[in-house]
Amino acid sequence: MVIELAGTMTALQDAPVSGAMLPVLDEDARALLFTDARTANSFAPDPVSDETLAAVWELAKWPPTAANTQPLRVTFVRSAEGKARLLPLLNEGNRAKTEAAPVVALLAADVDFHEFTEQTFPVRPEMKANFDAAGVEGRESMARFNATLQSAYFLLAARAHGLATGPMAGFDADAVTAEFFPGGRYRTLLVVNLGLPGENPWFDRLPRLAHDDVVSWA
Ligand SMILES: Cc1cc2nc3c(=O)[nH]c(=O)nc-3n(C[C@H](O)[C@H](O)[C@H](O)COP(=O)(O)O)c2cc1C
Repeated sequence: MVIELAGTMTALQDAPVSGAMLPVLDEDARALLFTDARTANSFAPDPVSDETLAAVWELAKWPPTAANTQPLRVTFVRSAEGKARLLPLLNEGNRAKTEAAPVVALLAADVDFHEFTEQTFPVRPEMKANFDAAGVEGRESMARFNATLQSAYFLLAARAHGLATGPMAGFDADAVTAEFFPGGRYRTLLVVNLGLPGENPWFDRLPRLAHDDVVSWA
């Protein structure tokens, strides 16, 4: 699905050349990720394999975060026990679809992401001590902002692997955090149903803002 321009991949990976053409996704790939992809509101019982879920992360880990901090943490809920802990913490209107989804991802921000910065940003080893000194209060907004970016990457990566996604903010975030992440290091951001679409899975498509409503030039 990728239009590969002559020599491009080599130039990208090995020997950056000023002005080298970058590859462009074809129309089918854009449709899969963006224009045809929908938010699923029902799910078929077909299971999602561990391999597929691992492959989703192998894609989602690549797009950028500030100083490569990568604060997103992912917890998959698939067992009946896990679902039973989660369902009461969701808004009532969100429960049936989460119950039906073969797997549910809890996306959370790690406010102690700096524990990894020596590994993820080795050219600035002093960053760890600086973030440590900032305290949780100083790190939380950065953790949330970058983990939210990564949540969007995660949704697109799941689509790229053929999964329908159902992101939901309609839940008691503090309660989910307390139930699944006691200790307070991880702060829940988003619950994402994953699987294949079930019966009547899509709501009517809602309009998107027009270019001129959004884009300006300075
Ligand atoms: C951050 C976020 C929170 C959402 N929360 C809910 C929710 O709690 N319940 C729900 O049914 N849909 C929820 N949605 C789904 C959106 O309403 C849906 O993705 C949007 O209307 C676009 O639908 P489409 O992808 O089918 O065009 C949420 C989506 C996002 C990205």
